Amino acid sequence: MKFETAATTNPIDQLKVVGRPTNRTDGPLKTTGRAPYAYEHQVAAPNQAYGYVVGSAIAKGRITKLDVSRAEEAPGVIAVVTASNAGPLKKANRNTATLFGGPKIEHYHQAIAVVVAETFEQARAAAGLLQIEYAREQGKFDLEASRASATDPKKITAGASDTSVGDFEGAFAKAAVKLDATYTTPDQSHVMMEPPATIATWEDGNLTVRTSHQMVDWARSDLATTLGLEKEQVRVITPYVGGGFGAKLFLRADVIAAALGARAAKRPVKVALQRPLSVNNLVHRPATIQRIRIGAERSGKITAIGHESWSGDLPNGKPDGAVHQTRLLYAGADRMTRTRLAILDLPEANAMRAPGEATGLMALEIAMDEMAEKLGLDPVEFRIINDTQVVPDVPAEPSSDDPQARSDSGGTDEHSAKELRFSQRHLVECLRTGAEKFGWSKRNKIPGQMREGDWLIGHGVAGAIRGNKQMKSAARVRLDRGGVVTVETDMTDIGTGSYTIIAQTAAEMMGIPIDKVVVRLGDSAFPVSAGSGGQWGGNCSTSGVYAACVKLREAVAQKLGFNVTDAAFEDGQVRASGRALPLAQAARDGELVAEDVIEFGGVTEESEQATFAAHFVEVAVDAFTGETRIRRMLSVCDCGRILNPKSARSQVIGGMSMGVGAALTEELAVDKRFGFFVNHDLASYEVPVHADIPHQEVIFFGDADPMSSPMKAKGVAELGISGVAAAVANAVYNAVGVRVREYPLTMDKLL
Ligand code: MOS
Repeated sequence: MKFETAATTNPIDQLKVVGRPTNRTDGPLKTTGRAPYAYEHQVAAPNQAYGYVVGSAIAKGRITKLDVSRAEEAPGVIAVVTASNAGPLKKANRNTATLFGGPKIEHYHQAIAVVVAETFEQARAAAGLLQIEYAREQGKFDLEASRASATDPKKITAGASDTSVGDFEGAFAKAAVKLDATYTTPDQSHVMMEPPATIATWEDGNLTVRTSHQMVDWARSDLATTLGLEKEQVRVITPYVGGGFGAKLFLRADVIAAALGARAAKRPVKVALQRPLSVNNLVHRPATIQRIRIGAERSGKITAIGHESWSGDLPNGKPDGAVHQTRLLYAGADRMTRTRLAILDLPEANAMRAPGEATGLMALEIAMDEMAEKLGLDPVEFRIINDTQVVPDVPAEPSSDDPQARSDSGGTDEHSAKELRFSQRHLVECLRTGAEKFGWSKRNKIPGQMREGDWLIGHGVAGAIRGNKQMKSAARVRLDRGGVVTVETDMTDIGTGSYTIIAQTAAEMMGIPIDKVVVRLGDSAFPVSAGSGGQWGGNCSTSGVYAACVKLREAVAQKLGFNVTDAAFEDGQVRASGRALPLAQAARDGELVAEDVIEFGGVTEESEQATFAAHFVEVAVDAFTGETRIRRMLSVCDCGRILNPKSARSQVIGGMSMGVGAALTEELAVDKRFGFFVNHDLASYEVPVHADIPHQEVIFFGDADPMSSPMKAKGVAELGISGVAAAVANAVYNAVGVRVREYPLTMDKLL
């Protein structure tokens, strides 16, 4: 089904099941330990062996000697695989670094061997017997030192190419009030609860991996490419995923190690990346240096806005998209963004929750706070003054009374785009509603003036934007004679609640209760979905289920002798013109099966689709130690129709908590001599725990967006983190009067 526009109503709009707060259908399985995660599958073959991954002890250089003989003789060892006996391996395009390295080493803890043994302990013990010698080369590990050599990236993430509208430099020079400030964000790690893990099984040259992955079809293609197999020879099964945050978007070393280990051992092999290996073996969010310049009239109207960002990655890697949102969030006639990429020999940089916006807003939304202060404006009002319903970085069409401009643009210049509007944008309402509910007017306006005992109290706000991507997504639905509808799609549930919103969608479409729907996910044997990434999964995968259900309704109507356009599907029945028949009766002669894919064509270009939020935070900072405690958080979100308010809220408070980590504690410490992240475990990479997070409140506008999809929903999950760290930073400034521009805001920076 091609999505044109959902301005008309459809069965989803009944909102009998969709839109209702619904418990996770997979909740009981998870809380009773019956939902199998990657490492836990009981594969048919009872003789699973264990693989232990060995990571490189240098960041850059070569292995000069790798002697496996002692390890091979160790008790229980079945096989030791290294680059020299792994067979040919090819790097998939979605990976920057080679997943199974050697003799060339590209980054610290790059996987260079997998030891397979009867037990995990035997594999681990034997791994310690490998004799490895290296020739170390000097790498580049310091972003600040490499900043001058950074170049315009050729291979870029969406929106990271340089943009320019009008004359930024001229307008900034002339502005009555100006800010020119530089901010830094550190390297960060996903540290999701479940490490990447895989059980690999070979049968007649075909490979099955039970793994933990966000994107089933990407994993299947890339695994086939890496191992030189046909895609049809690979099956990927990942029904439950214990978090990903982007670290499981692309193939990781666990899958390759398990596949190679199983091939060598001729047995199923299970591998979980050891936690201390994970941080340097996996991708991470790269550090950024960001320079922001804002010029405004005394009234507060922004006239010039410029955002430049520097980040690093391995050769052929990607930059962080930190400037992207600055093209879209606030008005201003003259503007520019610039992205530069330095080559660093640290582990691979890549997507982490809200890649781009998360880092970019950490800087931009402090800059907005600083500007508001310079202008003597309330930071909420300053943002409202600069709201725009029109995408501000599309060059304006030349005016018709200016013939010179017309001829300059070549008359039919396709670049002189017509005005591009946001399909929906309620940022102002988010800010106003949030300010009212939070009690913003009662805050202290002069920094460092509100005190309760030893605690200095502060309040901060930030605006946020995060894109809403439309990706094609397929599903299959089956109706059986018992009236049960089974949905099959390779969509994943990474803790987000996909099972539940997909069940809600099928229940609404077919007019049955949610417990009459069975949802089967995360298997490459099912139709290819949008997968879980970039906060597009919820909206797009349910839209694919909607499309399949439209076809199933047609099949049911035909079978029962109804005209589908008149038929109502409700209460387990199909009704039209006074006639009613049980839905199940359509399957009386056998199961009815329908499959379809939702595709988003030109409609996606008619408007800019994004989600918006306003975040409000109250902090208390110890006047003597500089310790910051979060006291209250409120996020007001504008992200289309909310399919399940319960799981959507969970997504947002998860994002808010991650934003607190980004603001206050999360930082990978780089060893700049040897090129690795020093704090590579959960004891030293600090993320917020329950005791760090106070009461959190989330308000949704819940406004259906007919331009987004038949579901009229949008992304939710990544909006939750976008902007939060800056709201915390602004609250800390309001509490103590010290402006910190280097994240995280650790105590030492306040004293
Ligand atoms: Mo998200 S960083 O696309 O998992």
